[in-house]
Amino acid sequence: MAFSFISFPLFSSSLFLAALIFTLLRRTRKKHTFQLPPGNTGLPLIGESLRMITAYRSGNPEPFVDDRLCRHGGRLFTTHLFGELTVFSADPEFNQLVLAGEGRTFESSYPSSISTLLGRRSLVLMKGSLHKRMHSLTLTRFASAGVIRSSLLPGIDHLIRLNLRSWGESVRLLDQAKKIAFELTVEQLMSEKPGEWTDYLSRHYNALTDGFFSVPLPSFLCLNAYGRAIKARKKVAESLMELVKSRKERKMREIVCKTETRKKDMVDELLEAEEGFTEEEMVDFLLALLVSGHETTPAMMTLVVKFLTDNPSALDLVKEEQVGIRERKKGVQEALEWSDYKTMPFTQCVINETLRVGNIISGVFRRTVADVHYKGYKIPKGCKVFASFRAVHLDENYFEDARTFNPWRWLGNTSKDSGKLSAGAPTFTPFGGGQRLCPGYELGRVEVSVFLHYLVTCFSWEVAEKDKLVFFPTTRMLKGYPIHVQRHRSL
Ligand SMILES: *[C@@H]1O[C@H](CO)[C@@H](O)[C@H](O)[C@H]1NC(C)=O
Ligand SMILES: *[C@@H]1O[C@H](CO)[C@@H](O)[C@H](O)[C@H]1NC(C)=O
Repeated sequence: MAFSFISFPLFSSSLFLAALIFTLLRRTRKKHTFQLPPGNTGLPLIGESLRMITAYRSGNPEPFVDDRLCRHGGRLFTTHLFGELTVFSADPEFNQLVLAGEGRTFESSYPSSISTLLGRRSLVLMKGSLHKRMHSLTLTRFASAGVIRSSLLPGIDHLIRLNLRSWGESVRLLDQAKKIAFELTVEQLMSEKPGEWTDYLSRHYNALTDGFFSVPLPSFLCLNAYGRAIKARKKVAESLMELVKSRKERKMREIVCKTETRKKDMVDELLEAEEGFTEEEMVDFLLALLVSGHETTPAMMTLVVKFLTDNPSALDLVKEEQVGIRERKKGVQEALEWSDYKTMPFTQCVINETLRVGNIISGVFRRTVADVHYKGYKIPKGCKVFASFRAVHLDENYFEDARTFNPWRWLGNTSKDSGKLSAGAPTFTPFGGGQRLCPGYELGRVEVSVFLHYLVTCFSWEVAEKDKLVFFPTTRMLKGYPIHVQRHRSL
């Protein structure tokens, strides 16, 4: 998981700050003896953050990056975001260096407000060999194609149908998608079925994730979303702690009585890990994995429906493809299988195109851990870098008619498209890459595909309220995409 953009306190007009700005201004000047990419660092503390936030809150943020690329030439520029000098990259080759240089030349870097909420033992914040091991454990035990096919898919199918069956005539799609994705993650990680406990946890997660994207004011001004998020984190951590403790006891009993027959989940893996994690560490780890299940997959589900609604000819083709799959099944209620997932090529094009245009993860923040030389620039050690995936995905140099939703481009009959390489670097990186490639990339795709299958084969819908796609603080539909639905077929 990564964060689109993280806000920073934007105070103004106090004497103290004037003094601080003055000091920072002098410091910034000094840094400029390095050959940083060209740029306008703006006012140091506030910098260009306000301009960027304004742009990304509008439906069309591209001019912010376009103007700067155009003004300075080249694909890198220096700016001043969230209180720090930041090299902004719209360059697929540089982005590739950033992703591949993890741990050697670059490391992930998030503000302390984020570490406080996520905990040090989250995948996002872990470093070095422990990160490697936990990343691979997450991927192989919990999200790989093999695991999805052999054990997760029936659960995904069942839970999505269960949820869709309960829909009334109007739903806020984002809320429903969040509920589905959260219940799925809880079941996959800790084998807990949806119920009171997951509802309780989910409520606190809403407060927790709201806090990531709020202005982290100091705790004495706790009446804001960040303060609520800190409180919610405590509640969530307590619940997860109870779960870990009871699972630990059960495990002891099972060892004594030799009755272990259940399928292993993430909690088992953590309990058995040779590192001997403490209970707090396990809670941190689980808590953070649940955040990703709570934010990214639901955004994908909502956006895919939004783009299809706006593009009826694409929707017709998806419908045709999914109805075809349904008709080949014997029983009406028969669950989707891996082979079905593998035979929905146009739906996969739609998902790719949604990821390319939607940019749920717009890029990643990193910090250089060594001086970095690139195309004549010298970026000093300790410098903040933002590798923008969005800027590459929406660039005419790499995708034809880049700012238009066109799922057909993925059929591969245009010269530029389909995430082709630019001088050896991938231009389509919706899930990041390198050691920090999002481990849930396949799982997310499968969940969205199954969701779409039942949505288009059983329902028709129309937009209930005009809504708007915004990109700050996260990529989402401002009102959560309210729709009226009509069911045509039972699930
Ligand atoms: C979608 O993108 C992935 C890269 O994330 C690529 O491997 C896959 O081939 C693409 N799918 C289609 C249908 O082009
Ligand atoms: C690609 O080919 C398909 C038919 O195979 C066509 O419908 C589609 O319009 C083409 N896409 C582009 C972008 O040329």
